[in-house]
Amino acid sequence: MKRVVIFASGSGSNAQALIEKAKELRSNLEIVGVFSDKKEAYVLQRAKQNNIPAMAIEKTGSKVEHEEKIINILSEWKPDWIFLAGYMRILSAQFIEKYPNRIINIHPSLLPEFPGRTGYEDAFHAGVKSSGVTIHYVDEGIDTGKHIIQESFPRYEEDSLEDFKKRGLQLEHKLYPHILEQVAYGKL
Ligand code: GRF
Repeated sequence: MKRVVIFASGSGSNAQALIEKAKELRSNLEIVGVFSDKKEAYVLQRAKQNNIPAMAIEKTGSKVEHEEKIINILSEWKPDWIFLAGYMRILSAQFIEKYPNRIINIHPSLLPEFPGRTGYEDAFHAGVKSSGVTIHYVDEGIDTGKHIIQESFPRYEEDSLEDFKKRGLQLEHKLYPHILEQVAYGKL
């Protein structure tokens, strides 16, 4: 049985897609907790609605202190894998070393293009004809880890930024559960 924890800072539409997929995968994989660095994040409600333990700890002191508190929670949840789903903090090398090649992130661009917090906005304003989604292992850089999967989607001339983002998010909600399934079946 693979144990997965989700880290998210916001709405958690990707977390929701993972939670739904985990229901199908339940004989091989369980989402054992959702962690947020924001107490108001809607992802926490989504976890509760699905009877998944949810915990929020905001960063008050240093990064090291914050991560120590997170590691405390993880010592109870005992994840094999951590899926970052809109988690807006950079994890330290010391944290990442505890889960070598076991932390995965989803990023809304075709990396290495448009790293950082605003992948959709940056790609859209750069006038791309297409963009995409990258799922990658997390290393200590910003969106620099080894790629697991990348898929592109078109940008149409008449697209507003909202249309463009919506198309990207639909792709995210297809790709991330697919990778969860790979984890469930030991293919990663
Ligand atoms: C997604 O676009 C994800 O790729 C990025 O942050 C956004 C999170 O959206 N890292 P949600 O909270 O999953 O709806």
